Amino acid sequence: MNLTCEDIFTELWNQYSKLNPEASKIQKLLSSQSQQKLLNDHVAFRTFNLSRFGIDHLAHSFKQLGYEAKGEYHFDVKKLYAQHFEHSNKNLPKIFISELLLEEFSDDFQKIIQSMGKEVSDASLAQEGVSFSGTHWKKSYSNYKKLYSESPYGAWLYAFGFCANHFTVFFNSLDNFKSLQELNDFLKNNNFVLNSSGGEIKGSPEQMLEQSSTMAAEIEVVFEDGTYKIPSCYYEFARRYEMAPGQLYQGFVAQSADKIFESTNKI
Ligand code: NI
Repeated sequence: MNLTCEDIFTELWNQYSKLNPEASKIQKLLSSQSQQKLLNDHVAFRTFNLSRFGIDHLAHSFKQLGYEAKGEYHFDVKKLYAQHFEHSNKNLPKIFISELLLEEFSDDFQKIIQSMGKEVSDASLAQEGVSFSGTHWKKSYSNYKKLYSESPYGAWLYAFGFCANHFTVFFNSLDNFKSLQELNDFLKNNNFVLNSSGGEIKGSPEQMLEQSSTMAAEIEVVFEDGTYKIPSCYYEFARRYEMAPGQLYQGFVAQSADKIFESTNKI
């Protein structure tokens, strides 16, 4: 099996839109309003910095397909490190991968994640489609709650595993909104709930990137000890500005991403 970028993004989108049915509704709504083809700015993934799980590991299949490491980002409060990857084909989304720094959490937290990691075979981590392979471990709601109390990010990852945490609409590919605010208002008028942590719009034209996102809807997840509703995935919107004529800024703004991570918190 040799997956192409298109194969991977199709699989990722199918999996993601099942976890987040709002995304397909919004995509259809935006596509119906726009003459241009709607593009994705980036697709984001989460992982743990366990030895076989780190960013490098998840990035491997994308690097094989021509993606290259670009910026790196530190999130001190959320205890995360991230990198983004770009492809020479500018119509392909950037890849944003963050990893949770386990050593900065309690012994209990680390034990749950370490024993989870031991359940995963080398073969399942080495598969080409690892980025949409989901969970490879038994999961309990009691562990989910313990993890959530220290890191909603970590709890999300434990519950959903390897999949797209969010897709991001590239605002610049839409031709019918003058500003991100206008897009946000349109979404709210259509009854979608936006993440307002740190204001609905994160970033500014001066920072050359503005972002907003929906709040993840809660879906039912089957755990060993019962079925519970927990926040799943969210949809993001990014507007990029030129740093020089004809050259859009391609990086990320850590301060903005910090707040966007909260889109998988419980409302
Ligand atoms: Ni994002």
